[in-house]
Amino acid sequence: MTNAGDPGWLVTGYALAREALKDPRLSRSAVSDPAMPQEENGAPPLAVVGTMTMLRRAGLRDEVIRGLSPRQPYVSLDRVRAVADDLLDAMIRRGDCGDLVEDFALPWAARVTGELLGLPEEAVAELGGWFGLMAVGPLADAHLPTAWPQSLAVFQTWMNDLKPPGLLPHLVRLNERSSRPLAPDELTGIAHMLAFSGLANPSAFLAACCLALARDPALAQRLRTSPDLVPRMVAEMYRWAPLLGDSITRIALEDVTLGHVRVRAGELVMISRDAANRDPAVYPEPERLDIDRNAAPHLRFGQGKHYCPGAALNQAQTEAALHAVLARMPDLRLAPGAAIAWREHHAVLMPVGVPAQW
Ligand code: HEM
Repeated sequence: MTNAGDPGWLVTGYALAREALKDPRLSRSAVSDPAMPQEENGAPPLAVVGTMTMLRRAGLRDEVIRGLSPRQPYVSLDRVRAVADDLLDAMIRRGDCGDLVEDFALPWAARVTGELLGLPEEAVAELGGWFGLMAVGPLADAHLPTAWPQSLAVFQTWMNDLKPPGLLPHLVRLNERSSRPLAPDELTGIAHMLAFSGLANPSAFLAACCLALARDPALAQRLRTSPDLVPRMVAEMYRWAPLLGDSITRIALEDVTLGHVRVRAGELVMISRDAANRDPAVYPEPERLDIDRNAAPHLRFGQGKHYCPGAALNQAQTEAALHAVLARMPDLRLAPGAAIAWREHHAVLMPVGVPAQW
């Protein structure tokens, strides 16, 4: 049973997860149909799960793919590194210990995503507080019915104040010229989705990487000596870190056989990336963070048609931020006695704080 009390199938093995993610009969958009079984109470808006379909209809999909690629023109990797350097320098000026979540990962993701999307300055300041939009279970039931429409209303005011450069002002201009333009509320819904995706996943992931480095000073030192290993660390973290909104949900549009199970049309399928990424048949000793693995590609960004368009950009940006951490904090470690607590009931799991010394 899901949090919504509906039945659903759970896919856990790596091979079957890949197969399910690539199967066009398992629909992402149909999850927004309130008549279908749900993972959480309340169906997600179409702008969240049908983003690329809506953009394709308006002829804007390819621009968004380009705008989220590592070669996008809005925020360079030098700039991403400079944002990280500035935040870390401010922490270092304040003393020799601090919190790498509130003072680094969250403001870093808000600023980088804000500049990528071209959001006004006040949005960059506020975006860090949007993590709550990823609430699930009882927290979502209590919080989202008011928080979601409120954040959409705020976002609409930011949309009215967009100025180039940035992906969103570019999209607004292209939409005006489209022969099948998105309605204003559709465009706002999609922009809102891009903003909280750009905040929640990247900040939680950077926090997880910082935590892994602070817990393992020998690994951090190895990366300082051999910075060309940083991409391997980031790739292994995508596999290993059980934090990024575990299940991907689909609705079967027709009867489908998955492994030995017959999934009926209209049934809910949940694909666990964490379970697939720790499938012992694919990753020996899956619980071990091992940057020397020569393993199958992880499934953190999904697979197939809906593969995350921000994947390569996030990898490059996270690498840039970690180079800054390694260089600026040569003796990074967890603060003595630090206990790591996790924000509960969020689709994207995030440590409440990473208290560190450097
Ligand atoms: C650590 C960072 C990230 C992770 C782990 C992540 C993960 C994912 C996953 C698993 C999917 C596929 C969902 C599915 O198949 O149903 C997805 C889709 C998507 N992601 Fe990401 N994402 C990340 C960063 C970003 C960023 C930075 C953006 C944009 C600012 C973004 C925008 C999107 C969009 C628009 C889709 C929908 C694709 C579609 O419907 O075809 N993601 N992401």
